[in-house]
Amino acid sequence: MSIAEKFVSMEYGPAPEDPKEATAWLERHGRRFELFIGGTWQPPAAGEYFDTLDPSIGEKLAAVAQGGVADIDAAVRAARAASPKWRALTPHARARYLYALARLAQKHSRLLAVLETMDNGKPIRESRDIDIPLVARHFYYHAGWAQLLQQEFPEHEPCGVVGQIIPWNFPLLMLAWKIAPALATGNTVVLKPAELTPLSALAFAELCQEARLPAGVVNIVTGDGATGEALVKHPDVDKIAFTGSTEVGRAIRSATAQSHKRLSLELGGKSPFIIFEDADLDSAVEGLVDGIWFNQGQVCCAGSRLLMQESIAEALLSKIRDRMSSLRIGAPLDKAIDIGAIVARVQLDRIERMVAQGVEEGATCWQPQVTLPSRGFYYPPTLLSNVHPTSIVAQQEIFGPVLAALTFRTPKEAVELANNTVYGLASCVWSENVNVALQVAAQLKAGVVWVNCTNLFDAACGFGGYRESGYGREGGREGLLEYMEPSWFKHAPTLPAAKAKAAPQVTGQPDERLDASAPAIDRTVKLYIGGKQARPDSGYSMEVRSPAGRLLGEAPWGNRKDIRNAVEAARKAESWAQATAHQRAQVLYYCAENLAQRQDEIIGRLAAAVGEKQAAREVELGLERIFTYAAWADKFDGAVHNPPFRNIAIAMNEAIGTVGVICPTEAPLLGFLSLALPLLAVGNRVIAVPSEKYPLITGDLYQLFDTSDLPGGAINIVTGYASQLLKPLAEHDDVDGIWCYGDEGMVAAAKAMSTGNLKQVWTNEGRVIDWFNSKLAEGRWFLEHATQVKNIWVPYGE
Ligand code: NAI
Repeated sequence: MSIAEKFVSMEYGPAPEDPKEATAWLERHGRRFELFIGGTWQPPAAGEYFDTLDPSIGEKLAAVAQGGVADIDAAVRAARAASPKWRALTPHARARYLYALARLAQKHSRLLAVLETMDNGKPIRESRDIDIPLVARHFYYHAGWAQLLQQEFPEHEPCGVVGQIIPWNFPLLMLAWKIAPALATGNTVVLKPAELTPLSALAFAELCQEARLPAGVVNIVTGDGATGEALVKHPDVDKIAFTGSTEVGRAIRSATAQSHKRLSLELGGKSPFIIFEDADLDSAVEGLVDGIWFNQGQVCCAGSRLLMQESIAEALLSKIRDRMSSLRIGAPLDKAIDIGAIVARVQLDRIERMVAQGVEEGATCWQPQVTLPSRGFYYPPTLLSNVHPTSIVAQQEIFGPVLAALTFRTPKEAVELANNTVYGLASCVWSENVNVALQVAAQLKAGVVWVNCTNLFDAACGFGGYRESGYGREGGREGLLEYMEPSWFKHAPTLPAAKAKAAPQVTGQPDERLDASAPAIDRTVKLYIGGKQARPDSGYSMEVRSPAGRLLGEAPWGNRKDIRNAVEAARKAESWAQATAHQRAQVLYYCAENLAQRQDEIIGRLAAAVGEKQAAREVELGLERIFTYAAWADKFDGAVHNPPFRNIAIAMNEAIGTVGVICPTEAPLLGFLSLALPLLAVGNRVIAVPSEKYPLITGDLYQLFDTSDLPGGAINIVTGYASQLLKPLAEHDDVDGIWCYGDEGMVAAAKAMSTGNLKQVWTNEGRVIDWFNSKLAEGRWFLEHATQVKNIWVPYGE
């Protein structure tokens, strides 16, 4: 046999990693683990334990404490007690702790990698070369942020006590993504690991002890969904950070709606993997191996939907089948294994069930001839072709090594198919034509786009979703913002609850009851939808009175139908979303010009509602505010990250999309402008409900927008009762975000009503905002909430 022939026929021999150290670690703990609370190991109050298994053989590894409500309470108390000292440390002192944790993760990297593989079933090659190095990188990166915190984020405060709930697919990596930024910004933590994979988090607790992290700064409470729920509901937790299924994310949204807990959600995905006919197909197939067979496909951003240009589909599928045939599946501790075990029997059942359903719905299933190990939970790499875009396997997360393949003809069709799910976590674009790749990347609704690469992660590059894949980012500068708040906002007083309203005064057409002194033009206003004045669907108006009870005019009584029309108009106003930043700035400056020209008459009318002095201030500061956001429009730039491999990641600040705004009552003009302008400046389209106190301002606003070249539909104004209009706005599936500025009741309602499509909600938390203080009421903080960051990764070099 020639050497060349031997190379072809040569088989891999077994290359098992030695589990000796990890086994010794388990034995040292008597294969039984308590809860890590206040720096010590404590038994669970109810004395219950559950088993964690090695999925590669289906056998018990250890018994782990089942934390209950009392244990969560003890952990939150410990975190609260540790908080004042921890946040008072100098940034440098905190940086040293984080640095120590990074060093310790490296020092114990082999133990951590083996333990992770034993508990999760992932190939040791991945835990050793990807998970654990990224854990260390995360702590290093955030040690740096801790050091720079005061210079870079002056006048910010940590949230306080943070509850963090993580899944089983990247147990220690998700822990690092959560704990590193929380500690760097001065928060203390209660973390609940996934019940299927708690061991590496417990090993991390020991690293905290070794680093002499002050007691209570990090607490680890193991347990199941009920333990997570107890953490979410604990009244003394200031923020919840969650990674897991969209379903549980939605439940957490509902459970926190009545509280002031901040929330970041990293949820599921059905990420498209788009291959154009001019792509380097061999590289794309290798990318696909990492895209869908990495970690057995149990990856939230897995490239689970293959979209192939029709002209190359057959050739590509044949290459994919060839490559699948050479994937090695087996014991995950074997260093030559590509695909390890599925995390648990329940997950394996779910994969089998979904594939069977996909086949029933018409998909063709192909699997290579592989022999699966006789024990443990394994599923072969699987290709589903002829998949219909509406099939369950094209729409829902399978979370297994299953690729669903579809075809497209044109780039436009590729984008439509790619965006045709409720998710928006990640995506891949393969094309040798940089113009096509970047053009498509810009149109994809996803927080991450990998161009000619896949599943790359780095602490400097924020990760997180659009749409029902959640919101908030982990990593990067934007990730830190999830764990801090401006100090003034944190301490702002609470608004008094709005008085329960008497039944609205319904009127027909305006008549002689109007105050004769009010200028005629002011007597009735209309709705402003799609750039046109519109009568309300209800056919009714509502009276607007001065504080002294004088009738000032009438405003339309908007209803659900008007909101629907406004949302439709907003979604059609594509030209605003696509306008250049310079064009948006020009339009805003033009608005300022027009406001200046009509300053006196607007003050005159507004004065009837808020008094002469406030009216003058509102108009004067309103003018300034327009200038501020005209200035920002072409300056709220993204960033270019340099991850530690040959890639750049372009972090773009993108508009959220269509945003509903409930304006504050107290400053009818200035409050409206303070919220609508930052949204418009970065390209959002807005449906605003103006102040109930003086909705007549709408008349002045639409004159302003009409004369300033703002495209119809970019802003829509629906007057009426905020308590009635909030519901259709918050529940509308075509609205991507809600900004609600009202009392605590209104804010809680906005959060509760908008869980359906998980739209982003930003509120004043029922607190007083001083709209007249330009240091607080304008600028970056508003723009950050008006945008979401998309990271586009582009490799360089041959
Ligand atoms: P899950 O969302 O139920 O679990 C994630 C974490 O949330 C675990 O720590 C769990 O104990 C906790 N949890 C569960 N119910 C909770 C509740 N009501 N309140 C607070 N915490 C709660 O995910 P699961 O059941 O492990 O997997 C089911 C499916 O979810 C998978 O098949 C996959 O499709 C998806 N998934 C997505 C992940 C992602 O990263 N996007 C990660 C894990 C699962």
